[in-house]
Amino acid sequence: MNKEIVTVVGTGYVGLPLACLLALKKHQVHGFDVNKKLTEKINKGIPPFKDSLVEKSLQKVVPFYLKATQNPKVIGKSDVVIISVPTPVDKDYRPDFNPLIGAVKTVGENLKKGQLIIIESTINPGVSEEIILPLLERKKYKVGKDFYLAHVPERINPGDPERNVSNLPRNVGAFTKKGLEKAVVFYRSFIDAPINPMHSIKEAEATKTIENAFRDINIAFVNEIAKSFDQMGIDVVEVIKGAASKFSFMPHWPSCGVGGHCIPVDPYYLIRKAETIGFSHDFLKLARRINNSMPDYTAELLQDELNEFKLSVKNTPVGILGISYKANIDDTRESPAFEIIEKVKKMGGEVMTFDPFLKKYSTEKSLQDILKKSLALIVATDHQDFINRLDGKILKKNKIKVVIDGKNCLDKENIEAYGIRYKGIGR
Ligand SMILES: NC(=O)c1ccc[n+]([C@@H]2O[C@H](COP(=O)([O-])OP(=O)(O)OC[C@H]3O[C@@H](n4cnc5c(N)ncnc54)[C@H](O)[C@@H]3O)[C@@H](O)[C@H]2O)c1
Repeated sequence: MNKEIVTVVGTGYVGLPLACLLALKKHQVHGFDVNKKLTEKINKGIPPFKDSLVEKSLQKVVPFYLKATQNPKVIGKSDVVIISVPTPVDKDYRPDFNPLIGAVKTVGENLKKGQLIIIESTINPGVSEEIILPLLERKKYKVGKDFYLAHVPERINPGDPERNVSNLPRNVGAFTKKGLEKAVVFYRSFIDAPINPMHSIKEAEATKTIENAFRDINIAFVNEIAKSFDQMGIDVVEVIKGAASKFSFMPHWPSCGVGGHCIPVDPYYLIRKAETIGFSHDFLKLARRINNSMPDYTAELLQDELNEFKLSVKNTPVGILGISYKANIDDTRESPAFEIIEKVKKMGGEVMTFDPFLKKYSTEKSLQDILKKSLALIVATDHQDFINRLDGKILKKNKIKVVIDGKNCLDKENIEAYGIRYKGIGR
């Protein structure tokens, strides 16, 4: 395939690795973003967040193959435009299409005949047809005749050193046969994994939403089991490990909550869409409710354990370890740590925080500092550094009395052997 001029609209966790990969394959890439600081960082070759592909490649591709910009005119000079802007929910868990509508309008205003427009943002079935297409066809350009529109949902897994934008299989849906062919050829030109053409754009939209709803439901199932096994005195981690030896059992793990821009968000897109046609996704709603209850549940475990020492959370120095929503990254979106902090504060606890990847959210400078000042700990993120360093010996030395392991990542037996009360989620 010819080398294309590509604009990536939205150069965040999804768009920037993609822009880097395209640039490594020697496509001419413009990274268009409304965030000035972000574009400046990219143009200086400074990775704006933790991502191994970006860290490895940014310096190599800027400025010859990749340039970040706030000027939307680059869109009109491109053969391919990929939109990867956020699709969050508002405070009532309703889809917030504003960033997507803003980005599509900008693309529409700069549309060039013959262009291939690709939506990578996660959207529910119907969004391409009901929201995106009317915005793009405003200038009397017709899809399939004047431009092509495809949806290729992203599956990137931030912090995963093996599965990244270059090797994850992708599904492609488009409005017309030619649009589908063009998008498939384009993705095959730079991704080293199967590229799967789908019958319709709606199917591609629906596939992504059910992938994340599937995860949410399975996590809700084990979170509910964890709560019940807590009362029965059964270690849920051992049970899941045992069950995983059955050929059809797919292990999922309970925790203090589900975070990130995908799993706790995307099911609402399907739930709300279904409501517009009078269908209630009861299963998805229940899963969301269970998973949303986990931060409070975790904070309440702290009170139960302190009771054993006749202590209250009120006025107890509590160290919250980890702010990011998952291990070894600096992404805080929808992180359960924030709700745990709020709950412990409401209970009167003296909250301190430390995350080695997020200094700006840390009240303490180091793990040692927070251990020294805390009487109880809640592990909200399973950063490798915590797993490596938090053993019974160091906890005892720092006079820690209680550990609530919100990620079931520490060695329970070792900690208990030092007379410290350990409580995980369901263990
Ligand atoms: N983060 C993930 O793990 C992940 C994985 C798979 C899919 N997704 C999906 O990909 C999409 C993007 O997610 P993300 O994590 O990269 O978000 P992000 O917030 O990291 O990045 C989005 C970027 O878009 C920019 N932006 C917002 N409105 C814009 C506009 N009108 N014009 C130009 N730029 C604009 C923002 O400034 C930001 O830099 C979402 O739909 C998300 O659900 C995310």
